[in-house]
Amino acid sequence: MASLRVSLPLLLLLMIVGAFGTEWSVKYNQQKICALKGSTVFMNGTFTHPGGQTVTEVFWVMDPDQNPSWPDMSKNADYSGRVEYLTDEWKHFSLNLNNVMKKDEHQYCVRIKTDQEKQKYLGRPGVTLTVTELHVETPGEVTEGETADLTCKTTCSLTDPTFIWYKNGHPLTTKTINNNQLHLQTVSSEDAGSYSCAVRGYQHLHSTAQNLRVRYPPKNVSVSIRPSGEIMEGSSVTLTCSSDANPPVKNYTWIKGSTSVGEGKTYSIPNIRSEDSGEYTCQSRNDHGERRSAAVQLNVLYPPKNVSVSISPSGEIVEGSSVTLTCSSDANPPAKNYTWFKEGGTSPVGSGQNYSIISITADHTGLYCCVAQNEHGAQRTAGVPVSLKGYPVILYVAVGVGLCFIFLVFLTVVLWRSRRKKQDENMDQPIYANEGEKDHSPPLEDKSSVYANVVAFKKQH
Ligand SMILES: *[C@@H]1O[C@H](CO)[C@@H](O)[C@H](O)[C@H]1NC(C)=O
Ligand SMILES: *[C@@H]1O[C@H](CO)[C@@H](O)[C@H](O)[C@H]1NC(C)=O
Ligand SMILES: *[C@@H]1O[C@H](CO)[C@@H](O)[C@H](O)[C@H]1NC(C)=O
Repeated sequence: MASLRVSLPLLLLLMIVGAFGTEWSVKYNQQKICALKGSTVFMNGTFTHPGGQTVTEVFWVMDPDQNPSWPDMSKNADYSGRVEYLTDEWKHFSLNLNNVMKKDEHQYCVRIKTDQEKQKYLGRPGVTLTVTELHVETPGEVTEGETADLTCKTTCSLTDPTFIWYKNGHPLTTKTINNNQLHLQTVSSEDAGSYSCAVRGYQHLHSTAQNLRVRYPPKNVSVSIRPSGEIMEGSSVTLTCSSDANPPVKNYTWIKGSTSVGEGKTYSIPNIRSEDSGEYTCQSRNDHGERRSAAVQLNVLYPPKNVSVSISPSGEIVEGSSVTLTCSSDANPPAKNYTWFKEGGTSPVGSGQNYSIISITADHTGLYCCVAQNEHGAQRTAGVPVSLKGYPVILYVAVGVGLCFIFLVFLTVVLWRSRRKKQDENMDQPIYANEGEKDHSPPLEDKSSVYANVVAFKKQH
């Protein structure tokens, strides 16, 4: 058979090679390895040796050209405990090198010895090892709205790496990662932070972190008011503007209504007046733009002022007609109570903003006065004459005014007491704490005229 005739010489040839051995050869799986600092490197390959010999020793030699005696690298103190050799019956060999360092960047060759003294082999060229760390490159600082690419740099090419990114230590899963780049399409202020990268499977060998700073116009512009709570006329109020910006805010402008009223982070109004009531806005500016806060309302409270009485109908009043007195005042909040007095009487004749006399007679004539009150105080008018033609009222002026005045003092005292009580509850001042106590002397610094009224009032009680 033809085929048998052809294959016989081939078979013979194979038998001869088997008997007298093949040549020495070493084949490495990879001749260049790029490894992450701190990782474990695996180098392997296969070898052949001349026939009729038994392999007695396989070890590795570092940089054989520089170490002519070709010593076993595992005996080197620099590698002690980090090296592991493996060989098997199918002539595979391998080297595990743990915790690689920059100084491990050498050429590594396998050395094979057999039972025949003159038969030794060094597999050259060997495997060249380079060691890299990961290093993040950022643009440093970008402006909101721009794009930014961050790069995870290595000094040699890792085999098939998958890069992972971290921001402030947390894995970033929602961003675009192209090979070793992190792509931020439209940077926002929230992208500012500290970035690091790693290779999947070697997360513990992540890079050191690098900062990405983002420039942006002011954000979260807000106004706070000190002191908080009610603003009484005459008190001092300070508005403070806060905002978040990079670079920091350069100008703050204060706007009342639509008029600019001041500059600076704070705006102080000492001795505030009712005219200072209104909407205030802070405008905060840096090189990248400006933003306004929401408007805050300043509502300056004050007791009634400009209390006045008008009489309707005006002019001469005819006996039997009806007359309406109207009390008006400027107050914030608006006057809550109006009380009417007539000279000669010991108690109020009426309440409410209007006081009407249906069918007026001579008995109704005289001086009338109105006391307007809100929770912050009270004010009275002077006596206003209501007269019928021919009935004089001038004689009673002093009495009428006096009556209204006493009532005003009474109101002031009531108000003062209730406010004091409120304050005591809030401030817990021991001197005022016990309202029921008979003799609580006023503190010296508090001898205002209002206080003098209170003392007088208390004695009457
Ligand atoms: C070296 O090791 C790799 C991974 O274990 C294996 O796939 C490969 O076949 C080995 N190469 C040789 C030449 O032994
Ligand atoms: C700014 O406002 C945003 C959204 O309103 C909020 O998430 C963020 O915490 C604020 N930043 C500061 C510093 O107040
Ligand atoms: C911003 O502040 C600077 C320096 O205080 C001042 O010169 C400039 O006029 C201000 N700009 C505006 C628009 O108020």
